[in-house]
Amino acid sequence: MKLLEIEHLKKSFGGIEVLSDLSMSVSEGEVVAVLGPSGSGKSTMLRCASLLETMDAGALRFAGSTVAEDVDGRSVYVGKKEQRELKSIFGLVFQNFNLFPHYTVLKNIIDAPVHVQKRDKEEVVQEARALLKKVGLEDKEDAYPCQLSGGQQQRVAIARALAMRPRMLFFDEPTSALDPEITAGILRILRQLAEEKMTMIIVTHEIDFARKVADRVVFMDGGVVVEQGRPEDVIDHPQNERTKMFLQKMEV
Ligand SMILES: Nc1ncnc2c1ncn2[C@@H]1O[C@H](COP(=O)(O)OP(=O)(O)OP(=O)(O)O)[C@@H](O)[C@H]1O
Ligand SMILES: [Mg+2]
Repeated sequence: MKLLEIEHLKKSFGGIEVLSDLSMSVSEGEVVAVLGPSGSGKSTMLRCASLLETMDAGALRFAGSTVAEDVDGRSVYVGKKEQRELKSIFGLVFQNFNLFPHYTVLKNIIDAPVHVQKRDKEEVVQEARALLKKVGLEDKEDAYPCQLSGGQQQRVAIARALAMRPRMLFFDEPTSALDPEITAGILRILRQLAEEKMTMIIVTHEIDFARKVADRVVFMDGGVVVEQGRPEDVIDHPQNERTKMFLQKMEV
């Protein structure tokens, strides 16, 4: 079962094409690491996949359901209400955590499940506590984001995404704002999620992590997928010159 399908995606900003005919898909249970140089369009691709940006052209499907289809080279989206329903399939974790500063940790996690998903508050609180335990923050539920380190805030952001019970998670450089030792803790959590067969797309510069955890590596450059495949192929035996150059610069 494909949880995410992007077909022939095109996206321009101010007349400059940032994504040109980009296609990729992610199967249930698969962990896909997206690598590529700065400006190659990785975040834009994720923002289109998560409906934060609209595609100019191309099709988008979640678990086989159409979010947008291509009609004569233009993306035509389903209605707003349907989009909102379809969006519940994924959770999103960014580089900068994006927690609500005036909510406690617990409230940050339970707010959307209670108020958007209309789930039973007691049940959601129990689940939130279990998630906090999972990310190693069981003693922080009453803290405010400003009282937490960057790594702790990112753990809360992951717990908050999981509390929505998504079928897949999108990560955009979840560790790039963090120190190396703190990064290791976040990567451990991602690795655990991978072992639990959570479907994930992770934009990352952590090559070693991608090699160990990803089922597939997608290398993007200049708004297209240049090369993709098993990590041991793409990272250790890249075929494309651009992939080779990128990996050389990353000193892999
Ligand atoms: N909202 C926007 N308006 C104008 N240009 C944009 C916008 N968002 C992205 N771009 C441009 O699109 C290109 C791709 O940007 P994007 O952020 O997707 O790259 P990236 O691969 O995520 O890079 P990085 O590794 O630095 O995060 C860049 O040239 C960027 O300047
Ligand atoms: Mg980016």
